[in-house]
Amino acid sequence: MSALLHYSYGLLQHDLTPGGWPLHRAVASARCRYPSELTLITPTGALRFDPLHHQLTLLCAAVTGIQYTEHESTSRFIVITSRFARTARLYGDYAPRLCAQEAGMLLGAVHLVASALGLRTRPGQDQKTLNDLCAPWLPSAGEHPMGYLELARPPRPPKTGSPVDAGPQRPGDRAWHPPDLASVLRFRHSGAAIFDPEPAPVTRELINDLEAALATAPLGDFSCHLLARSVTDLAPGHYVHVEGRLRQVSEGDPLALLEQIGQSEGRVSMNFRSTACVAYLAVRRGAAVARYGDDAFRRVHLGAGAAAHLVCVVAARHGLTARVHNGYDAATAERLLGLMPDEETVIFQVAIGAARPPASFRLPVVF
Ligand SMILES: Cc1cc2nc3c(=O)[nH]c(=O)nc-3n(C[C@H](O)[C@H](O)[C@H](O)COP(=O)(O)O)c2cc1C
Repeated sequence: MSALLHYSYGLLQHDLTPGGWPLHRAVASARCRYPSELTLITPTGALRFDPLHHQLTLLCAAVTGIQYTEHESTSRFIVITSRFARTARLYGDYAPRLCAQEAGMLLGAVHLVASALGLRTRPGQDQKTLNDLCAPWLPSAGEHPMGYLELARPPRPPKTGSPVDAGPQRPGDRAWHPPDLASVLRFRHSGAAIFDPEPAPVTRELINDLEAALATAPLGDFSCHLLARSVTDLAPGHYVHVEGRLRQVSEGDPLALLEQIGQSEGRVSMNFRSTACVAYLAVRRGAAVARYGDDAFRRVHLGAGAAAHLVCVVAARHGLTARVHNGYDAATAERLLGLMPDEETVIFQVAIGAARPPASFRLPVVF
């Protein structure tokens, strides 16, 4: 549990630069506000993760009436909530959007680390289960339930004799992760204040990892459009990853597309000329709204957010930087990426490149 919480949402780097953002955790957060909270639910209580002191604090002594799908003695829930006000202090009423994105990224982080630790994971978005998990301890205002995962130890192998029965395989049980996940997560960062990488290509191995990682993303229900400018052994162009496979949509340098999509307030939002490739995560907003109404907002961000964190980890595995950047125009992205009109939309833009060393210096935090 210590490793799970630390590598999912713990404090991993300390930046001492005056006026900077000093505390960096395992998951990216817009201007390091970290509005999400992680709470561990056990049959004997709800415990809040405190990353600064690397400890759990008891919120309430008994959480009863929870439907565990695994045996209660080997199963735990992790609940993700969000304090919108933390982010709203800087971002105003744009905060719920960032908080929903970050809750999804955190769900992806817990899922990734849990699967690397050999746990069986069942990520969930069902609103009733979420509310039941939160009811005994969540304050009535100021903190919003966002998502949860049920985690379980696989059954112990028998001591002798018969073959191991690890129980039925489920999608969450075979998630992609690099063998040295801890060092990859320690390395992961979003680059300097302005994303202006060295003009270096990404390797075909990175694209293969991306394909494998996205195929095991915990909640599915997204597609990933890749605008690749500079990849070894892969022609520049527009690729799409859908239902586990990457296929080419069109050939040619996508710089013009990137500079039209990646704009905020009429200006190009980062240096796409030296960025090797950019991933756009698209969701079926129309279908989600028809099915879930207002709750579609939370759900689509959870699924795509989990995938966005995987993109960041894949980049880190290959010594590169992934930058989640909301400076893009959704309507232009829908049009230029050929998304289904009035149905699909982009909710994450993640640029991948060889970030230059920033002016600041980050120290690793080791517990
Ligand atoms: C949901 C989300 C949105 C973000 N949007 C922007 C953005 O619009 N522009 C930008 O420069 N950085 C953006 N970032 C990057 C963060 O500011 C960056 O992750 C933060 O500095 C933490 O850095 P670290 O990941 O290196 O710890 C965003 C990050 C997240 C998670």
